[in-house]
Amino acid sequence: MKAGFNGLKGKEISLISIVLMAATIILWSWEKTPGLTAFPPPQKPLQLSSDHLKGMGESNTRTTSKKEVKEHILSGVSDEEPKHERGLEAGKSHGIQTLSTPTSEAKRNDAEVDKTSKLEKHKACNYAKGKWVPDDNRPLYSGFGCKQWLSSMWACRMMQRTDFAYEKLRWQPKDCKIEEFESSKFLKRLQNKTLAFVGDSLGRQQFQSLMCMATGGEEKPDVEDVGSEYGLALAEGNARPNGWAYRFPSTNSTILYYWSAILCDVEPIDVNNPQTDYAMHLDRPAAFLREYLHKFDVLVLNTGHHWNRGKLNANRWVMHVGGVPNTDKKIAVIWGAKNLTIHSVVSWVNSQLPKYPGLKAFFRSISPRHFFGGDWNTGGSCDNTKPMSVGKEILEEESSDPVAANAVKGTGIKLLDITGLSQLRDEGHISRFSLTAQPGVQDCLHWCLPGIPDTWNEILFAQI
Ligand SMILES: *[C@@H]1O[C@H](CO)[C@@H](O)[C@H](O)[C@H]1NC(C)=O
Ligand SMILES: *[C@@H]1O[C@H](CO)[C@@H](O)[C@H](O)[C@H]1NC(C)=O
Ligand SMILES: *[C@@H]1O[C@H](CO)[C@@H](O)[C@H](O)[C@H]1NC(C)=O
Repeated sequence: MKAGFNGLKGKEISLISIVLMAATIILWSWEKTPGLTAFPPPQKPLQLSSDHLKGMGESNTRTTSKKEVKEHILSGVSDEEPKHERGLEAGKSHGIQTLSTPTSEAKRNDAEVDKTSKLEKHKACNYAKGKWVPDDNRPLYSGFGCKQWLSSMWACRMMQRTDFAYEKLRWQPKDCKIEEFESSKFLKRLQNKTLAFVGDSLGRQQFQSLMCMATGGEEKPDVEDVGSEYGLALAEGNARPNGWAYRFPSTNSTILYYWSAILCDVEPIDVNNPQTDYAMHLDRPAAFLREYLHKFDVLVLNTGHHWNRGKLNANRWVMHVGGVPNTDKKIAVIWGAKNLTIHSVVSWVNSQLPKYPGLKAFFRSISPRHFFGGDWNTGGSCDNTKPMSVGKEILEEESSDPVAANAVKGTGIKLLDITGLSQLRDEGHISRFSLTAQPGVQDCLHWCLPGIPDTWNEILFAQI
């Protein structure tokens, strides 16, 4: 009797709980989907209205003095790009368009909300806004040292240069403090991890800067060369490898750099022809990224200064989209191609994040150039030695690199926005002191090290 009674009660209870659960689910999903459908609306295809693009070719020479200045500073970044363009659509279509039940769809939405709130926490501090302040604790390493990693062509202390005021400044964000960089703290945070820079020579500068910061510029014979683990061994017949990877044995932390000037895949069109052209697959990330992404815990991407007709022609790069030569006129203009590539790479990395939830990925905004009175090959110069002659503060909320900013919008990739703050530092370039440049040719693109790229790494450190 007792058992029967209890059995009945058990059944009643489970019946009631089932009803309750069902009601909860119905109410909850009703609330989540005001459109009365449990499925999300179809994603909008990428929007590229031809109106936006009319007359916006790279050869467009419409200039105002303001534009001229900006073009000197931001090579390859045209300020004629429509400001309202969003990278959102591209970022969201990250290839995980699986048909899913309402429940798993809701779960994914929750995960996205989580991600967003995390992003918003970081948004609370816009590191790009702030000012340069004098600081006697700068630089973070001596420009006479760090010979193990610092290229002599960027070591301005070793040149005839005599002004070093540019070394003694620190970036102070407006709304927060940057945690003071300490190599031991940094290496600990990077314990058992790999931080990868992938990009052009400005990415290499940031890599060398970080190696010097992590070692304090001291000799470190125990740091291991682990390039071969990332396919970076010197190939026979090449003057230098495609990159470098070093491991700090005390914490098992690896820092690497891979040379990829344009971040997209580049392939010889005819492998048997030494004179072959190369397909630059604008919508396909560099093979190195696809092969090694799973090994990275922090990734810092950059591109920018190789997106010009001269470099494309010199390298015999031919634009390809979808595996075939590009026929789209909007993409054929340089900034259109660059924009497509940046969006594609960011969108691809974003699509990989669910697989590698620990990965922190950054896209570093463009590093500004400061050629005045000409370009690099027409007598342009950057002779100023007085820090912050152009101003010392950035107060704008918006990035000065709209292409990169739009590409990361709505994705899990963070913008390492260094464009504005670096724009204020025209005195920090190699200038006429470059060891390799011919007389008269100035380097107003690369930076003296120690110098401005150290600040980029401080801002990176604050976010990992
Ligand atoms: C170093 O870190 C990697 C992960 O990045 C791990 O697989 C490996 O076991 C670590 N090695 C040592 C000696 O701790
Ligand atoms: C690093 O990896 C080693 C070996 O796999 C492990 O014993 C150690 O706990 C790891 N340390 C951290 C902080 O992950
Ligand atoms: C940049 O590319 C993205 C993705 O292809 C596109 O949605 C966006 O409209 C482009 N931006 C401009 C200014 O054309």
